[in-house]
Amino acid sequence: MNSVLQRVYEIGIIPVIAFNSVDEALPLCKALMAGGLPAAEVTFRTACAEDCIKKIHEELPDMLLGAGTVLTKDQADRAMAAGASFIVAPGFDPEVCQHVIDKGGIMMPGTATAGEMQQAMNMGCEVVKFFPAEANGGVDKLKNIGAALKTCKWMCTGGVNAKNVNNYLGYNQIIAVGGTWMCKSDKIKAGAWDEITAMSREAVDVMLGLEL
Ligand code: 3PG
Repeated sequence: MNSVLQRVYEIGIIPVIAFNSVDEALPLCKALMAGGLPAAEVTFRTACAEDCIKKIHEELPDMLLGAGTVLTKDQADRAMAAGASFIVAPGFDPEVCQHVIDKGGIMMPGTATAGEMQQAMNMGCEVVKFFPAEANGGVDKLKNIGAALKTCKWMCTGGVNAKNVNNYLGYNQIIAVGGTWMCKSDKIKAGAWDEITAMSREAVDVMLGLEL
């Protein structure tokens, strides 16, 4: 795996964030880092995503920074120019995928079927997102698919939380999970940074307790 994907694997849990304003970017990332999660997938679900990525990239270079909910080539370009090291999408759009790969970026398209996973792998995606993971059959489905797609690697998001995270991370073809459970939008809006740090630390503790 390249160095970015290696870091995704080592951190294991990637917080998925929808920022309401650029002012939240640094305090939230500092709260995540204090809890042991130096990573963020900043989603283009809100208009300030690009500016938040830029700010985090400039001020917190130790954060592993990705862009999420990237639906268009233009968003992908803006995310990469702002400093995102990887691009995530909820679905598999071959054009956007190819565009990111052609630009030398790392693309993790959202997939839910063996067909989409196979196409994304053949296009050059080293890791694909499995989304929404729980609603699509969770780790049991991936074990079935993984028996055939033995070199496919997944990042799973959608319904992952402290209770089921280790079901996912315990399967060796899953390199990481993502989720909002430690940084829900009401907590971000309320500036509940200590609570976010505590939830992040809990997530890390649960993961570290995993017996492989
Ligand atoms: C994502 O975009 O990856 C998901 O919306 C995160 O899902 P969750 O809110 O269930 O963690």
